Amino acid sequence: MLQVDFSNLDASRIGPDQGVEWARELEAAAPRLEAARNALWERAGDPAAMLGWVHLPEATDVLRSVQRFALAQEGVTDVLVLGIGGSALGAKALSAALGGEGARLHFVDNVEPEPVAALLDRLDPAATLVNVISKSGTTAETMAAFLIALDWLRRALGPRWKDRVVVTTDPERGVLRPYAERHGLVAFEIPPDVGGRFSVFSPVGLLPLALAGVDVAGLLAGARMAGALARADAGGNLPAQTALAQYLAWRKGQRISVLMPYSTRLALLPAWFVQLHAESLGKAYDRSGSRVHVGPTPLAAVGATDQHAQVQLFREGPFDKLVVFVRHQQADRDLTLPAEEGLEELGYLFGKSLFQLLRAEAAATAHALAEARRPNYTIVLEQVDAYHLGWLLQHLMWQTAFLGELFDVNAFDQPGVELGKRYTYALLGRPGYEELAAELARAGVEP
Ligand code: PA5
Repeated sequence: MLQVDFSNLDASRIGPDQGVEWARELEAAAPRLEAARNALWERAGDPAAMLGWVHLPEATDVLRSVQRFALAQEGVTDVLVLGIGGSALGAKALSAALGGEGARLHFVDNVEPEPVAALLDRLDPAATLVNVISKSGTTAETMAAFLIALDWLRRALGPRWKDRVVVTTDPERGVLRPYAERHGLVAFEIPPDVGGRFSVFSPVGLLPLALAGVDVAGLLAGARMAGALARADAGGNLPAQTALAQYLAWRKGQRISVLMPYSTRLALLPAWFVQLHAESLGKAYDRSGSRVHVGPTPLAAVGATDQHAQVQLFREGPFDKLVVFVRHQQADRDLTLPAEEGLEELGYLFGKSLFQLLRAEAAATAHALAEARRPNYTIVLEQVDAYHLGWLLQHLMWQTAFLGELFDVNAFDQPGVELGKRYTYALLGRPGYEELAAELARAGVEP
């Protein structure tokens, strides 16, 4: 199960200034949420709408081909995953959470030379599979890492380098598809109507996760639950409800949206969420072209660690945050705290378990924030496993889509990141960017 406890949003608990009358707001917003739901499901059939991700959990043929490929990789102990943004963050978060008995995953999602060189020094090319992932097939960071990895493989393996490369890209666009065809490389498809940050349940995420031995079928089964709830009326539509909570918070001036899982295993989940919300909702224009400059600022935190860092700010700083906790009800393993002579002052801990302490800290922090009139809600997972994480990630993607409807912005484009990319090309002398290069020279910008 995945449930949400909204009680710490309610005005009866945190007062009318910061809180909302949740039941009344939900009832009032129901027609709007249901219209948003209908619009999203209607558009899900239109490839131009970029809603292909809603169908990914159903794609059992893709699941099977990814699993087959993973099973066939004998002798592969390590996978070098080359991708950035939506082409890396989902698998990074899920592999950190779910481990797996398969190959070790190493993500190259930056171009700082020292870590890349150190990683290649550590890996054995004969036992390493390189998975290059780029929807556009043009992203400079990913392509640069690919050029280096190709050279590294070729030097060690000669013509056998081809057995150690697998490509994940658009079926047509970009340079990777023709390159894979030219060299007969195995290549998986990212459906054209699935954007990077919504692609974790396409081969972008499924392939590295299957190679790592993660239960990818479980992920998709969980993701299907989120989709089923996204079809429900407002009263049972969890993604629409959390979107409403986020939207109401924005309107009340709580413009920072914190995601704080109480779990080290989920420590990388907020980084994936930050990209999802930031690129999808941070928009200058609404869908009719009016300037709006909207978008909650997503912020990452991890419990209990951040109780000793950011919680001070959350509880006493500006009234500008909505904190969303993620906690789980069952531990897979637990450790009992033994009694120790000489440390009797810690007697309240003796005989308890680490998980009991973690749960108590999560409940206590949520209440401490509510006491200080700080709105928060808690997503409760039964446990940290593939099924519940599949459900959670697809829930958050649906939440983002509903928020796009509520803010009336296109949640599936990212025009704001384009200019920086084009300036980079100009600085590196890419043909076709001479005018921008001249503009940068006039402004005194140098690499
Ligand atoms: O969500 C997005 O669209 C982006 O974050 C992309 O995933 C990122 O820019 C990488 O793009 P690509 O997969 O085309 O290399």
